[in-house]
Amino acid sequence: MKVLVATEKPFAKVAVDGIRKEVEGAGFELALLEKYTEKKQLLDAVADADAIIIRSDIVDAEVLAAAKQLKIVVRAGAGYDNVDLAAATAAGVCVMNTPGQNSNAVAELALGMMVYAVRNFYNGTSGTELKGKRLGIHAFGNVGRNVARIAKGFGMEVYAFDAFCPAEVIEKDGVKALASAEALYETCDVVSLHIPATAETKNSINYALLNKMPKGALLVNTARKEVINEAEMVKLMEERTDFKYVTDIMPANHAEMMEKFAGRYFATPKKMGAQTAEANINAGIAAASQIVDFIKNGNERFRVNK
Ligand code: 3PG
Repeated sequence: MKVLVATEKPFAKVAVDGIRKEVEGAGFELALLEKYTEKKQLLDAVADADAIIIRSDIVDAEVLAAAKQLKIVVRAGAGYDNVDLAAATAAGVCVMNTPGQNSNAVAELALGMMVYAVRNFYNGTSGTELKGKRLGIHAFGNVGRNVARIAKGFGMEVYAFDAFCPAEVIEKDGVKALASAEALYETCDVVSLHIPATAETKNSINYALLNKMPKGALLVNTARKEVINEAEMVKLMEERTDFKYVTDIMPANHAEMMEKFAGRYFATPKKMGAQTAEANINAGIAAASQIVDFIKNGNERFRVNK
């Protein structure tokens, strides 16, 4: 039984050691494909793999077709928009994620990016504080919950909107639940995005929504670039010189954003929200143990495809 770790953005070494222990301890073989630059390398590596652990690596119909022995793909992380679920189902491949395992890391980065933005990107000029400001958490999943917990420590007033999470669940965490995205953006000085990229959410963060935010607004994106309507973001930031945008997922129009909005816009060079030793260990080892439990016992608890 061969388990392949295919990570264009590698895990910390200590996480790979933990994955190896889990896989070899079960009597399986571990193969590593890290920092690959061509899709061909992935297509070759998956040829004899029974199981694959990935991060944001693309597993499309072509990759699935090349993986003749494949039984399971585990996305070590939360979002699985990088996997073609229908093609996996058609190929008889189980797809899982590892929910919650890297969420604290992403939440800590979201707060770090907020401080960076309100302190004017650490340029030494007088900024503002997070204490007393209204934070809107857009989607109250594992990351959103952690953002709420940390933001309360900063003394922020925390609000959330989640189309799928009942208000009682949100309020139990000491967070004010709002009934719509519009209400969240209207109410909050800072909005932190934690929605997945789906057919419904892609391009949904648009001019009309963002323009509801009060003066001096800040949008923090540690979710997905696809949820932003990039052309409308440009229009908004041209009109609203008070508006700041910081993102952990570099947009397609990064060069234009830098040129037009330097000082109000920042993007990390590579998505780094989940890039901590702890998150790599948690998500990587969870992925390995889910694979072992699936192969040995048929456990499909974290399956995300039908
Ligand atoms: C996730 O969906 O888990 C995060 O976006 C982290 O993605 P990464 O594993 O590519 O860093």
